[in-house]
Amino acid sequence: MTAPLLYLDHAATSWPKEPRVVEAMARALVEPGVAPDRGGGAAGRAAARAVAVARERVAALLAVDGPERVTFTLNATDALNLALKGALRAGDEVVTSTIEHNSVARPLARLEAEGGVVVRRVAADRFGRLAAADVLAAVTPRTRLVALSHASNVTGLRHPIAAIGAALRTQPIGRRPWLLVDVAQSAGYRPLDEVSSVADLLAGAGHKGPGGPLGTGFLWTREGVALRPQREGGTGSRSEEPLQPNDWPGALEAGSPNVPGIVALAVAIEARLAGGGLAAIAAIAAARTAATHEFLARLRELDAVERFGPDDAPSREPLFPLRVRGYAVAEAAALLESEFAIVQRAGLHCNPGTHRVLGTAPDGTLRLSFGHAPGAAEMERAVEALRELSRAAPSSG
Ligand SMILES: Cc1ncc(COP(=O)(O)O)c(C=O)c1O
Repeated sequence: MTAPLLYLDHAATSWPKEPRVVEAMARALVEPGVAPDRGGGAAGRAAARAVAVARERVAALLAVDGPERVTFTLNATDALNLALKGALRAGDEVVTSTIEHNSVARPLARLEAEGGVVVRRVAADRFGRLAAADVLAAVTPRTRLVALSHASNVTGLRHPIAAIGAALRTQPIGRRPWLLVDVAQSAGYRPLDEVSSVADLLAGAGHKGPGGPLGTGFLWTREGVALRPQREGGTGSRSEEPLQPNDWPGALEAGSPNVPGIVALAVAIEARLAGGGLAAIAAIAAARTAATHEFLARLRELDAVERFGPDDAPSREPLFPLRVRGYAVAEAAALLESEFAIVQRAGLHCNPGTHRVLGTAPDGTLRLSFGHAPGAAEMERAVEALRELSRAAPSSG
């Protein structure tokens, strides 16, 4: 009998989605079933209300005021493109790091090559750690934006965003760069109040930690932060105006939105926040930190498994870049799936910069990533699979 699937690729997208999320998405195709404020009468108004509720839920998850400043996007990549391309103009400088996901690194590389933007990339150490002082030292009077991830999608390590943001906020308004934080690996898994209180832009994925469907993401923009829209067209209002109106919410959205996805995301976030708002998220974070601690301890028992990144559980999310000695990365990944029914992800994880500093480029690593409630049984199964795999390693005898 084949073992049931063990899904350890939550860093890519969380799975399975809760039944109530699936049901909400299916129901929204029928009721309201239409786009907000674009005809449909009562149904169109109901769609607008449902989207407004979803903005409130995202704002609660991010611990920000002003749900009208939440823009719905396709995913975190879309939110980051909007933030970077909407904020930066020729002659601007942007400070980022050498270890960002391609959804930050590639738009910046294009803006650098074609848009006259100067990109300053701060180096991380060989564990993938960024120092706040190095980031701050790269800021100049021409810096329009500081763009960093909150937690790495390769090591799970959280960067010192609160310290960076607090230092930036001591600069006079008008000269202070905006702080864009990619919260794709932390939103829904950890309270974000310390980050959101110092950030100007937060970009995240609805389909990862928040537990929403694929096709959902969001960008929160602090009031006063002006971005050029990256999509223009119908907004359902003031249609006589030649330029897209700067009306919030929706100033950065155009076209019929993904109502089924947005409604289902709202239901997913409600489930995450149930029973205590940010306290519920704090409980998820505590469980994930305990799991990180436990899993790192179990991995240390396995001599043939190489770990990368710092062994410092409190500063990490439970995602683990690994190699099994005696196997090529792709081979170990294929065996974990075919022989042990463990779904994980091998390679560079859209983040070659981090693998370069870890010394794991160009092949990358395996990555096992846990969800919002990592269980002892799933950790045990993963450890046993790695143990068996290393015992059977072609070059181990
Ligand atoms: C840190 C980080 N940023 C951005 C993204 C892009 O997210 P999405 O798949 O929602 O576009 C990911 C996805 O893995 C990520 O881990």
